[in-house]
Amino acid sequence: MDAPDSSLGHAAESIRPARQPDVAAQPSAHHVIRARLLSFNADPGDDDTPAEGSVSYIEDGALWWSGGVIQAVGEYAHIAPRLPADTTLIDHRDKLVMPGFIDSHVHYVQLEIMASYGRQLLDWLNEYTFPEECRFAKREHAEHIADVFLDELMRVGTTTAQVFCSSHPGSVDAFFSAARRRDLCMLAGKVLMDRHAPDALTDDTLGGIRDSERLISDWHGTARLGYSVTPRFAPTSTRAQLDAAGGLLRNDPSLWLQTHLAENLGELDWVAELFPGSRDYLHVYEASDLVGPRSTFAHGIHLDDGMRQRLADRGANIAFCPSSNLFLGSGLFDRAGARQQRLKLTLASDIGAGTDLSGLATLKAAYQVGQLRGTPLTAWAGFHDLTLGNAVSLSLDDRIGSLTAGKDADFVVIDPMASPLMARRMGRTRSLSEELFTLMMMGDDRTIYETWAGGRLQHRRQG
Ligand code: GUN
Ligand code: ZN
Repeated sequence: MDAPDSSLGHAAESIRPARQPDVAAQPSAHHVIRARLLSFNADPGDDDTPAEGSVSYIEDGALWWSGGVIQAVGEYAHIAPRLPADTTLIDHRDKLVMPGFIDSHVHYVQLEIMASYGRQLLDWLNEYTFPEECRFAKREHAEHIADVFLDELMRVGTTTAQVFCSSHPGSVDAFFSAARRRDLCMLAGKVLMDRHAPDALTDDTLGGIRDSERLISDWHGTARLGYSVTPRFAPTSTRAQLDAAGGLLRNDPSLWLQTHLAENLGELDWVAELFPGSRDYLHVYEASDLVGPRSTFAHGIHLDDGMRQRLADRGANIAFCPSSNLFLGSGLFDRAGARQQRLKLTLASDIGAGTDLSGLATLKAAYQVGQLRGTPLTAWAGFHDLTLGNAVSLSLDDRIGSLTAGKDADFVVIDPMASPLMARRMGRTRSLSEELFTLMMMGDDRTIYETWAGGRLQHRRQG
């Protein structure tokens, strides 16, 4: 947590206080936030007490950044004398600052069909999702929803997400353009489907791959953006399309992959029917070379130990989507069992089947699922998973996931007293752990006071 440059000798008093940081602030200017700082150095484990050295908490901390990069993190008293004279000081001593939240699996094109009543996966896809995704053929619609979606992410403190677009390449251009304008770190990809979907969403098998190649060349590795090859799930791709998707990954190992796996029992039966030569669902993806350390498989509820072990051996991750799994009645993901097998996990909202974009709401649902399985999620594990854990599992931890000098300046300013009831409840907490648990059970968009990404103020709560 040391500053890369220690040749600065200015007194704290010379720093300019700022009541209203400029939203379009020059990212190169020096800023420091004085606040309580919480960040993870490692996985805290699942015990009530976090593993030794896994948590970094500074009661009177300073987070100093410029040029979109964190310069130093530490005790305010230690950092202040080293700040350049023109540093803007933001006094948030009554707030808690954490790394920006990460959502490992979300469909921006489903934002407007959240809370569509009463179906399980396959009917829900046919009845609500596919018709909605058809609307993204229109570029203006995609641009509008991409902006609304990113506004919403900022309102809930999510600074990075791995995002499904629709099968229209324009929906990806719209999303990446909007993310680049805001200087956000985002992964996204064009949905690949060459069967079992409406004609308006169905690719020509290799045409979808050529579109993906064009998008990769335009976007992957530009600004803070990465491309995720995105076959929707086994039932909507032929073997030829899955193989071609695997070819993209072999050609460029820096690409990500995202898809769905073993979410719903009806889906499992359908996959067995469609791929009679595969010994199980995971094998469908393995046979096309889609399972690797940069692969995210959403849900993974109905997997046996053998499949989980194969995923763990390849370093792939399962995105646990608790509010979605509850909403579609898909099942109660066995997080504890998966962790015992050392399977990499991520946490995700999975909007539009998920019921809330907020990472705090995702933690609450994960806790509730854990309770029903006899393994409730601790606040330490929850906030670790939402930040550093997701960054590590997505191979993004060289840039994001913790408050560390040299990483990107993506963080969230939390107001634990955001509502009268929260303030009342916080008055009764006796430890940081209790405070964090209250945040994850009672927090919502009001709890997010500010969201910063790329060193820029992206959102400040009104009022
Ligand atoms: N499986 C295939 N497509 C989808 C989707 O859009 N949402 C969810 N939850 N599962 C899927
Ligand atoms: Zn999904």
